[in-house]
Amino acid sequence: MKNIEIEGLNFEILLSSNNILKRVNVLAAQIIKQYQSEWPLFLIVLNGASVFASALLKRIEESVPTALVKVSSYSGTESTNNILVDYFPYELVRGRNILLIEDIVDTGLTLNFLKKELKKNGANNIECVTLLFKPSKYNYSTSPQYVGFDIGEEFVVGYGMDYNQKGRNLPHVYKKTIHQN
Ligand code: IMP
Repeated sequence: MKNIEIEGLNFEILLSSNNILKRVNVLAAQIIKQYQSEWPLFLIVLNGASVFASALLKRIEESVPTALVKVSSYSGTESTNNILVDYFPYELVRGRNILLIEDIVDTGLTLNFLKKELKKNGANNIECVTLLFKPSKYNYSTSPQYVGFDIGEEFVVGYGMDYNQKGRNLPHVYKKTIHQN
């Protein structure tokens, strides 16, 4: 597992695909236990969560409802305060319990924007499973219910996460090496 470079930034391995897979299995087991009597709508937050959601949902060997939502808030390696809604399944959420599937929760702006938007459109209970969580950057009181890994403040790529739309395909999660320009 070698370090990689994307557009002049260096990244080193943080979580191997094996580690991630083991954790995904644990999360799937928790979710099955919690929800199997009544499945929520699994709402996959694009683009980043596509890889994680694919692994997680395949571990739930039952037919469950899924849908996609697409918002964007990141530019380069920084979160911005503007959320753009590119796609929102307004017609599916009324009266439903929702489990949002996120790749990473950083400041929490995206997650809490989505919760508000879902509530506004009639959703019932809204929870979240995220592969990665940056607790020290999170600005809200309610944390995601299911977390794969707590990480520090480092910028990460791989396993669905990108730097300027590159690196989503990488099988491991990499963090930006600290000492560089
Ligand atoms: P938040 O709104 O600040 O919580 O950021 C959430 C979104 O920003 C995530 O869904 C990701 O798409 C993106 N993001 C946050 N941190 C990172 C990171 O370290 N690498 C890549 N994308 C990130």
